[in-house]
Amino acid sequence: MSTTSSDQKLTRSQLRSRIDRLPRMQMAHLPTPLEEMPRLSAELGGPRILVKREDMTGLAYGGNKARHYEFEMPHIRDEGYDTVINIMDYHSNNARMTAAAANKTDLRYILVLKNAAHRKIQGNLLIDKLLGAELHLLDQFQSETADEYAAKLKQQLEAEGAKPYLVQEHLFPRIVGMVGFVEAGLELLDQVEELGLQNVHIVGVAGRSLCGLILAARNLGVDWRFTGVQVTYDPPLDQYIFDHDQDIRDLLDLPVTFTKDDLPVLTQYVGEGYGIMTPEVAEAIHMAARTDAIICDPNYTGTVMAALIDQVRQGNLGEDETVIFLHTGGLPAVFTYAEQLAEFSERG
Ligand SMILES: Cc1ncc(COP(=O)(O)O)c(C=O)c1O
Repeated sequence: MSTTSSDQKLTRSQLRSRIDRLPRMQMAHLPTPLEEMPRLSAELGGPRILVKREDMTGLAYGGNKARHYEFEMPHIRDEGYDTVINIMDYHSNNARMTAAAANKTDLRYILVLKNAAHRKIQGNLLIDKLLGAELHLLDQFQSETADEYAAKLKQQLEAEGAKPYLVQEHLFPRIVGMVGFVEAGLELLDQVEELGLQNVHIVGVAGRSLCGLILAARNLGVDWRFTGVQVTYDPPLDQYIFDHDQDIRDLLDLPVTFTKDDLPVLTQYVGEGYGIMTPEVAEAIHMAARTDAIICDPNYTGTVMAALIDQVRQGNLGEDETVIFLHTGGLPAVFTYAEQLAEFSERG
């Protein structure tokens, strides 16, 4: 069953009113579509598969962060900061979307990018430039001490009279990522009901977005199942999400929060590490594109798609389930991996 049950803790309007208490600025195109992937389903001989298109949120090529920044940017601005400093990897989607959101909030944006020196200017890095982010491109050696580099930068700016917000020093950015996805849960529930979907099983990156959907489901008494796919070893998932169960409960005043049991995590698809695309991910990107014209990225959603395909092949996602692939975006990153992907395409 996909409807609410007697375990319901909040009504939809009660849950919505918890979200509506937070300062917010509209940035995302919502609701995002819930789209069928019938050809992928047929190709795999597996269950019904749909995709929740968080890659279509807009905001400089879309992705899950558009929902986050609707809350994060007003929070930063209302606290009196005028500048955002963010430390990210050179191909980061987060870096790009922060730049876009900072522009829309009139905040100055300084980006300390790790492993970025001497890189080709394309993909997310190109969009960072177009958006006017002030870039500090660190080489591999400097990247080891990126935190200190950014802390010094912050001190310098303070000495010049600015009020910089160094994202990595604050708790709010770590938990706010769930808020927008509590709302996405409300949105998805309407869509699931409209289509009459049963036995819903949501598969996505093991991260804050998926936890936001879990929070919505648990508080509304919806019996969706979830599977998280790990895409990186760093930071450990406990630190990244599970340790923040109480923080998000407090922020939204929720009757229930999530536990580790709510999110079984598949750890076997990371490969050598974050940012190193495996052949299985390259295959999954091609399969989703060539069946239902869904483009996945090499770091996040491609890894989830590889896991989804493998789990269907192994019979772990059953015929009786309705699988929803949570597409969290990341599209500019395909250009960063153009050569590897093209080589794979040519091999057929
Ligand atoms: C495309 C994509 N998907 C998923 C994630 C994970 O984000 P979160 O933990 O906020 O769900 C990221 C993080 O940057 C991302 O870029």
